[in-house]
Amino acid sequence: MSLLVMLFFSLLRCILVVALGTGVSAAPRTGPYIDKREAPLQNIASPITSVTWDDKSVTLNGERIMIYSGEFHPFRLPSPGLWLDVLQKIKALGFNTVSFYVDWALLEGKQGNFSADGIFALDAFFQAATESGLYLIARPGPYINAEAYGGGFPGWLQRMRGDPRVNGPDYTPAIKSYLSNIGPILAKAQITNGGPIILVQPENEYSLVDLNTDKTLDPSYMQTVEDALREVGIVVPLISNDALNYGNWAPGTGEGAVDIYGHDGYPVGLKCADPDNWNASGSFFPQDWWAAHLRQSPSTPYAIMEFQGGSYDQWSGAGYDACAVLLNHEFERVYYKNDYASGVKIFNVYMVFGGTNWGNLGFPEGYTSYDYGAAIKEDRTVWREKYSNLNTPTNHSEYANTDEVMVTAVTTDMTKFWVVRHTDYTSTAGIEYTLRLTTTAGNLSLPQLGGKLTLPGRDSKIHVTDYSVGSYSLLYSTAEIFTWKEYASETVLLIYGGVGETHELALNSTAFPQVLEGRRPVFHSTAGQTVMQWNVTTSRTIVKIDSLLIYLLDRNAAYNYWVLNLPDTDGSRYSTASSVIVKAGYLLRTAEMNGSTLALRGDLNVTTTVEVIGSPSKLSSVTFNGKALSNLSTSNTTETLSGQAIYQEPNFTLPDLSSLDWKTVDSLPEIQSTYNDSRWTLADHTTTNNTETQNLTTPTSLYSSDYGYNIGSLLYRGHFAATSNESYLYINIQGGDAFGISAWIGDEFLGSYAGASNKATYAQNFSLPALTAGKNYVFTVLHDHMGNEQNGHVYGDNSKRPRGILDYALGGRDQSAIAWKLTGNLGGEDYKDRTRGPLNEGGLYAERQGWHLPQPPTDKFESGSPFEGVSKPGVAFYFASFDLDMPEGYDIPLEFAFPKWSASGTPYRCLLYVNGYLFGKYLHAIGPQTNFPVPEGILDYHGTNYIALSLWAQDANGAALDTFLLRPSHIVQTGYGAVELSPMAGYELRENAYSGL
Ligand code: GAL
Repeated sequence: MSLLVMLFFSLLRCILVVALGTGVSAAPRTGPYIDKREAPLQNIASPITSVTWDDKSVTLNGERIMIYSGEFHPFRLPSPGLWLDVLQKIKALGFNTVSFYVDWALLEGKQGNFSADGIFALDAFFQAATESGLYLIARPGPYINAEAYGGGFPGWLQRMRGDPRVNGPDYTPAIKSYLSNIGPILAKAQITNGGPIILVQPENEYSLVDLNTDKTLDPSYMQTVEDALREVGIVVPLISNDALNYGNWAPGTGEGAVDIYGHDGYPVGLKCADPDNWNASGSFFPQDWWAAHLRQSPSTPYAIMEFQGGSYDQWSGAGYDACAVLLNHEFERVYYKNDYASGVKIFNVYMVFGGTNWGNLGFPEGYTSYDYGAAIKEDRTVWREKYSNLNTPTNHSEYANTDEVMVTAVTTDMTKFWVVRHTDYTSTAGIEYTLRLTTTAGNLSLPQLGGKLTLPGRDSKIHVTDYSVGSYSLLYSTAEIFTWKEYASETVLLIYGGVGETHELALNSTAFPQVLEGRRPVFHSTAGQTVMQWNVTTSRTIVKIDSLLIYLLDRNAAYNYWVLNLPDTDGSRYSTASSVIVKAGYLLRTAEMNGSTLALRGDLNVTTTVEVIGSPSKLSSVTFNGKALSNLSTSNTTETLSGQAIYQEPNFTLPDLSSLDWKTVDSLPEIQSTYNDSRWTLADHTTTNNTETQNLTTPTSLYSSDYGYNIGSLLYRGHFAATSNESYLYINIQGGDAFGISAWIGDEFLGSYAGASNKATYAQNFSLPALTAGKNYVFTVLHDHMGNEQNGHVYGDNSKRPRGILDYALGGRDQSAIAWKLTGNLGGEDYKDRTRGPLNEGGLYAERQGWHLPQPPTDKFESGSPFEGVSKPGVAFYFASFDLDMPEGYDIPLEFAFPKWSASGTPYRCLLYVNGYLFGKYLHAIGPQTNFPVPEGILDYHGTNYIALSLWAQDANGAALDTFLLRPSHIVQTGYGAVELSPMAGYELRENAYSGL
């Protein structure tokens, strides 16, 4: 359970209950578990018929709800059997909501041909959200950004006339059609129809226009998107995501205005190379956001629709481990608590699980992994410390004895939250301070019993005053609140601080304090209060005052406590009316009461003591993943029940990839003299609609999307009859960052461009050998289409930047001497693999044949492995299969590891297909990704798996893999259960696949 999440809830609940005087009368259910911590939610009756809002919060059937959300894109985990796994992990953190984008590019690969089936269907996602007790914020675009191909725009949009993201004769009908298809799917899943969706976001960051234009954003377009959503039955509030707090589309701003204004913020920027530096260029610290909110949207709850939870990384980048350092637990503490101090009521962390840009779905600047350095890693393991951490601001120095700390009071009528941080928020120095705080008992100087409070470097704290804990009241606590719960005969309060820190609290009871466990704090009784001061150590202390049990924890120990909702009668876990606090280890997923047995499900990486806190007498046994805890014992003093969940090492073996029965086939037969390209597409368009580069510099357009080829490898063949005057071939190609080229005349290699992380376009002269007059020659040019750009700035039209040959010259000849043909993936927008969608495969010969799919016709292949590789430039295609027999009851994420990358290494490029799904694009001389996680569901853990690898050797001497491994990235014993296989459509003869041989 995340400490910050818990704090967020306790903080906001108090703001609601106390400040707004909503008078939440918890009608507690009978039974042992009555959690008053989140009482505002517990009265929500099912079904929810209304989602409304005011300046304080969103309300469901009149009950207030604070939204603490994490971003997760189901399309980046094409194994629907694992969606519940990720959602349970998000829920276990204490989030109550998940925000998700829908990626249009994956659903409408051909205009008018929308399909959201199989891995693209969202029903399983909605069900998993309900089961885990998470509300959803749907963000269907049409534009999403998201480091996705075209920012979510399908490739065919490159052919439309006019600009995307403004109303126009081509664009408007296109988005209307998309919204009329996706809209009903979302509408059906709204909470008002029994589903999990509570908010819908039209567009995304409709905020900025291109710097080179004096045009403005198009309100009629924003309105068109909103109207289209309303027309298909979206009734929940529409919320915006402005690209910072600019105030675009806030209520009252006229056409295009939404119901609830929201914005995003990425304060430390999106470069991970200097991860300790919070002050890199482009970074900022959120200041005065509450004041801006009051100016911009005073009638809506303050919403930060995306707040930085990590960063994407670029080709040749620092890698996601560096991103996770930049956006680590210290960042979370300082920046998120600052957001809470800004009065945020709808808060979404982008991303909480990033996933994978499998199947070419990413934008050109990014690589296959979209791990994002997020709290839950790409392989679904939890990034431990980061995972576990998650009004009117008035200042400052009047509350503290030093200018070095800044104190923001988040005030309610009575309860106050004092957010303390370093004035220099980047400071790494620890400082000591004392506080002067106003309480109902007057102004107090803290600590009262002497000594100092400490704020470590890059930390922030929330102290509370006049905070209710059931029937008790804390006059103040400098230690942070984790959670509390009121049982029939006692109340339990868990608080924490950093090891070595001094903390103090005052409670409205002078009953004699008993120390049930641990070291004795200093007690002082005064004016109806017990003041208690202690030093935080790694061993816990439990103090009982009257019938309140106070657990004094250190922060790392607090990470092991989980608060789990018990399922409601409909199986959902939204209601906090019944919940348990359990101390365990790596992960607790669910809790259920079966008679007098508490059934827990979770994951272990070591034998773990499980302790049910404040366990009621009714409880007689506890199971973990179906097995009774060993050595179950009850503590009569602390009223806990504890026992051991036993971890057992799994037994399994993984195949040695170097000893598989590899088969190989040449995947560039196009350079052979006998190759016949008569069925290829003739590049014969003399005009283009592409507004980005409208003036063709070639006799016919060579932009791949003008011919329906939108992704993957592209091949061009240029035919000409020589005069013998030809001296060179000049070509200027645009493939997107890190793209590469190789070129041949006939079967003679002309050369390659290895690619560079920041070059989307490259112009090159290839010198030609002496040609024979009158003889026919063919150039073959292979290059990578790395995806379409995003379209962040309206009128920039970046998403329309063409891919393919932009310009060429044949030295000594006219351009018209060459007749070009091209191909990409077989069928182009009539793509063949309906299971894996429009972007999964490209135009390599073997891909066109479908040989990357399970069970290809290997009788056509020879023996040969990628470890032997090839000795000349070209593309070799390899194929092998292996069986897996992984142990049940374990989650063992697997990854394929390629050789170390090296900027000075031999340039070669590999595509890795696993059971037909493209799960890796490895660029040996560009990097940085070398390890490619592949989730269970894509890998069959109990059957045969088919892997295919293309090896594009760009170097004259060829290339080979010196290492290629399949290995576990993590091992946990899990109660998750079996993972369903994703659809695995296999190879079928492709009738019209032009083999040309
Ligand atoms: C935001 C955008 C997201 C994503 C993010 C960076 O501005 O809304 O879609 O691109 O930036 O990861």
